[in-house]
Amino acid sequence: MRISVIGTGYVGLVTGTCLAETGNEVICVDIDEAKVERMRNGEVPIYEPHLELLFERNIKANRLKFTTSLDEGLAHAEIVFLALPTPENEDGAADLSYVLNVVEQIGKKITDYKVIVDKSTVPVGTAEKVHAIIAKHAPCEFDVVSNPEFLREGFAVDDFMKPERIIIGSSSERATALMKRLYSPFVRSGNPIIVMDEKSAELTKYASNAFLATKITFMNEIANYCEKVGADVDKVRAGMGTDSRIGKRFLFPGIGYGGSCFPKDVKALKKAGSDENYNFKILNSVLEINSDQKIILLPKIEKFFNNDLKGKTIAVWGLAFKPETDDIREAPSIDMMNGLLELNAKLQVFDPEAMPNIKKRFGDKLHYSESMYEALEGADALLICTEWSIFRTPDYSRLKNALNNPVIFDGRNLYNVSDMEAEGFTYVSIGRKA
Ligand code: UGA
Repeated sequence: MRISVIGTGYVGLVTGTCLAETGNEVICVDIDEAKVERMRNGEVPIYEPHLELLFERNIKANRLKFTTSLDEGLAHAEIVFLALPTPENEDGAADLSYVLNVVEQIGKKITDYKVIVDKSTVPVGTAEKVHAIIAKHAPCEFDVVSNPEFLREGFAVDDFMKPERIIIGSSSERATALMKRLYSPFVRSGNPIIVMDEKSAELTKYASNAFLATKITFMNEIANYCEKVGADVDKVRAGMGTDSRIGKRFLFPGIGYGGSCFPKDVKALKKAGSDENYNFKILNSVLEINSDQKIILLPKIEKFFNNDLKGKTIAVWGLAFKPETDDIREAPSIDMMNGLLELNAKLQVFDPEAMPNIKKRFGDKLHYSESMYEALEGADALLICTEWSIFRTPDYSRLKNALNNPVIFDGRNLYNVSDMEAEGFTYVSIGRKA
């Protein structure tokens, strides 16, 4: 089928590439000329495991092309995906200006039937708005479909190629049939394509992300309570997770959730609720708890150093908001590092992928280390903010030799408490014995 994807951010690029992989002819449109040129030369502009292989293969096969021309994209496609940013407004609402600007142009430019697909995370009622804008101008028939994405950064290719479900919000049989045909190669295993009205599809995305953020936050509260009563959150988690109604996943406590999605979507749903005079009480709590959780280790570090961090050096492992990404948006590491800097600590930091992004943000306030072990040299403690695999089995004797004090503050519960005791570390983690 002939597809265009407008916007080559994270979602657009993965969508375009994976749709080309199943034989569709895809044109990706972006206003950024330099980026389009780089992509034409085979350069993937984001870090995402497994994307490069598919990207190169489909460019070579001529199924994946890039342009800055919206006209070219529209002339090519029968299905047009909108994968444009929906950043957070000052009041927490999703800013739809990128989406609606492009939609206005689409309305003025289309000349034959097309399905316009909202892939971006957009508030309930956006498909209706998009339909009304295009209808003002378009001389031809068209349909608007809501098709939210559920890709996780770091696993996006896998999530796209083998989705647990596809959500299609559509009230047109013609558009639904086209979308089902497009997605049929991805659900061969029998996973469902769930068709519903546009508003329910739009809300499904917000409800899913807000639920997952709530699930994590609930576990963070249980972890904090475990510390008060001497229970072990690992054991509680294992016990709870075997109940299939609860499930094992997204039960891992830590120093809070971050990223470009959960924080933004929880705030946007709360704001959308208040616009309708509906107070999402649970989301208020989630936001409050998560912002406290991001700095939950700070008072523990202060206490260890008798409330005097001046002149102390802390090594920080892991800066990205989660492993397998260079994304630092809303990363708990940022809150922790800002807190430590305010207390006059010096920081020696290392992350396998996120160093350039952190450098842009913190400049010369931090010391940037070449390796995880270099970050430890002469440091008074180690703080872990992201659970990269490379941190999971460190050389303990190297660690002890490099650190001035054998103390680890672990925001991601990477190690067994008993192993660390046996190795002679002071080990502070989340929801377990200190
Ligand atoms: C999330 C959703 O998982 C995707 O389904 C969704 O498509 C995406 O947002 C989006 O809206 O675009 P992502 O932000 O890439 O994906 O990352 P997750 O793997 O969901 O992790 C989010 C945060 O939760 C991370 O900071 C992670 O460390 C934290 N987390 C996750 C926990 O603290 N504990 C857990 O058990 C799981």
